[in-house]
Amino acid sequence: MFYWKIDDDTELRLLEERHAETAFALIDQNREHLWTWLPWARPGYSLEDCQGYIKQTLQRLADNNGFDVAIFYRGQMAGQIGYNSIDWPNRVTEIGYWLGATFQGKGLITVACRALLDHAFYELKLNRVEIRCAVENSRSRAVPERLGFRQDGILRQVEWLHDRFVDLVVYSMLAGEWPHLRQS
Ligand SMILES: CC(C)(COP(=O)(O)OP(=O)(O)OC[C@H]1O[C@@H](n2cnc3c(N)ncnc32)[C@H](O)[C@@H]1OP(=O)(O)O)[C@@H](O)C(=O)NCCC(=O)NCCS
Repeated sequence: MFYWKIDDDTELRLLEERHAETAFALIDQNREHLWTWLPWARPGYSLEDCQGYIKQTLQRLADNNGFDVAIFYRGQMAGQIGYNSIDWPNRVTEIGYWLGATFQGKGLITVACRALLDHAFYELKLNRVEIRCAVENSRSRAVPERLGFRQDGILRQVEWLHDRFVDLVVYSMLAGEWPHLRQS
C-alpha cells in the first residue's frame, strides 16, 4: 500500500478503512479547531461519517480522481492531506489539508505539500496545483505562500461557512515554476 517516508519523523500513508478509528479520535479531539474552517467537522460528526469519508476517498483513488493520505508524525496520526479531485483534461488538481492542533508549527503540512507537488508534477504530469483558503484563515494561507505559490485572485462569497458566506483566496503553482521554487 501507498507509503511515503518524508524524514525520520514524518511519513504519509494512504488513508484506509483500518485508520478510521484513529482518524475519528483525532478529529474528535480537534472538533472546535477544525470546525472553525472545515464545516464537515460539525458537532455531530461520527465514526460512521469518518468511515464513509474514507470509503469515498478510496473510491476517488480507484477512479483516478485524487486521494487522501494520513500524515504520521513520530508514529502518531497528525492530520491529513490530499488531492481533492483531478481535472485530467486540464491537468489541474487542488490540495486540501488539516492537522490536529498540537501538530501545528512543525512544518508538517508544508513538507507534505512539497511531496504532493513533486508527485503531481513529476508522476502525474499535471500542469497546475491549486490551494484555496478562506481569506481570514491566515495559517492556511501561509502554507502556499511559504512554498512560493502565486495568488491568482479572490473568489467572493463562494463558500458558506456556518452562518456566513466567505471569500476564498486561490493560489496556484504551475509545473514550469516548481523545479525552480522547490530548491528555495
Ligand atoms: C492550516 C493548517 C494545516 C496549518 O498548520 P501549520 O502547522 O501552521 O502549517 P505547517 O505544518 O506547514 O507548519 C508551519 C509552521 O511550522 C514552522 N516550521 C517548523 N519547521 C518547519 C519546516 N521544516 N518547514 C516549514 N515550516 C516549519 C513554521 O515556521 C510555521 O510556524 P509559524 O506559523 O509559527 O510560523 C492548520 O492550522 C489547520 O489544520 N487548521 C485547521 C484546518 C484548516 O484550516 N485547514 C485548511 C483549510 S483551507
